[in-house]
Amino acid sequence: MKAITVQPGHAGSASLDDVPEPALGEGSVLVEAIAVGVCGTDVEIVDGKYGWSPPGSDRLVLGHESLGKVVDPGGATGLKPGDLIVGIVRRPDPVPCPNCAVGEWDMCRNGQYTERGIKELHGFMSERWRIEPEYAMKVDRSLGLLGVLLEPTTVVAKAWEQVTAVGQRAFWEPRHVLVTGAGPIGLLAALLGKQRGLDVHVLDRVTTGAKPELVRQLGATYHACRANELGFQPDIIIECTGVGPVISDAVKSVAAGGIVCLTGVGTGGRTTGMVADAAASLVLRNNVIVGSVNANKRHWYKASESLLRADMAWLAQLVTRRERPEDFRRALARQADDIKVVVQFANP
Ligand code: BGC
Repeated sequence: MKAITVQPGHAGSASLDDVPEPALGEGSVLVEAIAVGVCGTDVEIVDGKYGWSPPGSDRLVLGHESLGKVVDPGGATGLKPGDLIVGIVRRPDPVPCPNCAVGEWDMCRNGQYTERGIKELHGFMSERWRIEPEYAMKVDRSLGLLGVLLEPTTVVAKAWEQVTAVGQRAFWEPRHVLVTGAGPIGLLAALLGKQRGLDVHVLDRVTTGAKPELVRQLGATYHACRANELGFQPDIIIECTGVGPVISDAVKSVAAGGIVCLTGVGTGGRTTGMVADAAASLVLRNNVIVGSVNANKRHWYKASESLLRADMAWLAQLVTRRERPEDFRRALARQADDIKVVVQFANP
């Protein structure tokens, strides 16, 4: 079968290869790929800056934002042929650390966790893949291709849960939310903010195109300025750019008692000294900066609920480009108006 593979650590090594059928050891559920979303992490892996191949192999099958159709449930209860499923990305470390032991693999403490398509486990960019029944998330049929948005939604579901958990440390009635970055993570974070009944603002660089329009359609406010030029201080900032100067502005602009949640760590700027510069004000204003990565089963469940409550016509606009597996290079190259690009293997 065909798969998009990469040699981690080697820029430009991605190729569409013939690979063996997925090994039974990868899980009893056999799945036909429908689509796989492309995100910044994939681009970093393809650029040789991130990613690890499985032990004993020098190549890694790419892709962690999956959507597939069950071919053979392999004895899994609750799954039947034709069901749409998405594969959970992370697996607990083998020790396991206390957090992995209680199913919080997203909070793994020893870094020995593994991740499909990212760290030591093959991903989902292959015509067929296998998964363990307990890591297969069934997706409502009504979502169709939009089920491919489930994985990025889990990341923001966890981020929101972190913000709420931190907020409970004191009396807290947050009203104004700022999301920095109107990419898929930012727009989904804004969606979840609206679903919580909050006043949502989204900041990005562009002034035209789909992003400002999608923010308006959500009933949120779009800004193309810096966080310190908004004219108000957000109670919550969900930072979705990973860009040093944007993070720095966010930390300096959050309201007293406010929380900044970092969801991305890109390579787009210097972050050195950022927290040190703001340290005095962080203390005097009781601010918290919380990092958030990955998601556990509870977040996968919450993310499915959020997607089902969303306006499908709005969600559909997030998928701005679909490319065939043979055109994977085009899928990995950013174009100006891209939001979520998917590699499409088959129809849902
Ligand atoms: C994925 C997460 C993963 C993280 C770090 C993100 O792109 O969505 O599942 O934990 O990268 O590898």
